[in-house]
Amino acid sequence: MDMTVRPRRLRKSDTLRRMVRETRMDKSSLIYPLFVKEGTNVEEEIPSMEGQYRYSVDRLPFELERLQKAGVDKVMFFGIPDVKDEVGSQAYAEDGIVQRALREARKQFPDLYLITDVCMCEYTSHGHCGVLCGHDVENDSTLKLLAKTALSHVEAGADMVAPSDMMDGRVGAIRHLLDEKGHKDIPILSYAVKYASAFYGPFREAAGSAPSFGDRKSYQMDFHNRREGMKEALLDVQEGADIIMVKPALSYLDVIREVKDAINLPVAAYSVSGEYAMVKAAAKLGYIDEERIICEMAVSTYRAGADIYLTYFAKELARFMEEGRIG
Ligand code: PBG
Repeated sequence: MDMTVRPRRLRKSDTLRRMVRETRMDKSSLIYPLFVKEGTNVEEEIPSMEGQYRYSVDRLPFELERLQKAGVDKVMFFGIPDVKDEVGSQAYAEDGIVQRALREARKQFPDLYLITDVCMCEYTSHGHCGVLCGHDVENDSTLKLLAKTALSHVEAGADMVAPSDMMDGRVGAIRHLLDEKGHKDIPILSYAVKYASAFYGPFREAAGSAPSFGDRKSYQMDFHNRREGMKEALLDVQEGADIIMVKPALSYLDVIREVKDAINLPVAAYSVSGEYAMVKAAAKLGYIDEERIICEMAVSTYRAGADIYLTYFAKELARFMEEGRIG
């Protein structure tokens, strides 16, 4: 055969395949989402997310220790309060669950990078991501509470805040208040391109944050839309976001790529609870090879353009990267 170009030439050995690999990852890009709740001595497994737990503040250090040992040095805190009300007061309370978790983590783990999810849905009695006016989530009055929440996280020791509510103007409002209070150097990781997704199902069970009526479609995005995602990303860049997130990850690789090409900020992707639950369930039934699926999902997300990966599989991935199985 007269064939000069033979793609298979570069696939001959593992050494060669590693040499020409196009996507390289590092565990410094991993963020682990973590649920903290009220009480003591609580370490309860989340039924729809086998292997993931809710921790009380006193048990949190054990998990932080495990993360650090695995080489994961960034966490994102989600709070589960005991008391909820119409205006989500516990989200911005000085002794709120996330604020207390931050103080404890800050004290015991000075080297961990602490990020917080900034939203109202875990704290409101109605489960929506903002304050209500009738059945409508009121945008502008919610902004003040979100900014207040972000500030209280920073004052309790957060290194970075991540608004996930999808109200218009929240990044600007948070930036403004943080600057005013002297926190000019705290970066904002914006959940800029967040779709109204069924993939959040297990999370809502984990955090008890499902809306008591209606859905989130009047603030989270319609998953038929790609250009609207660019609009959201560019708007948050203008408002002062430092990192732009796309969420979920697996079904939105096209959006990750487009955001990556359109902006010059780091891009994060969140492999959400439903993605985790599907892998776990299928693996349990013996239908898929869990490790290989975890690796393939991660690599495809980075290949699509993500610089940062939020995943419940962070510990496993750090190990796979360490062992050279991927990356
Ligand atoms: C809060 C928030 C949600 C998730 C992250 N932040 C739930 C939602 O928007 O309903 C989902 C994370 C996951 O599914 O793993 N608004």
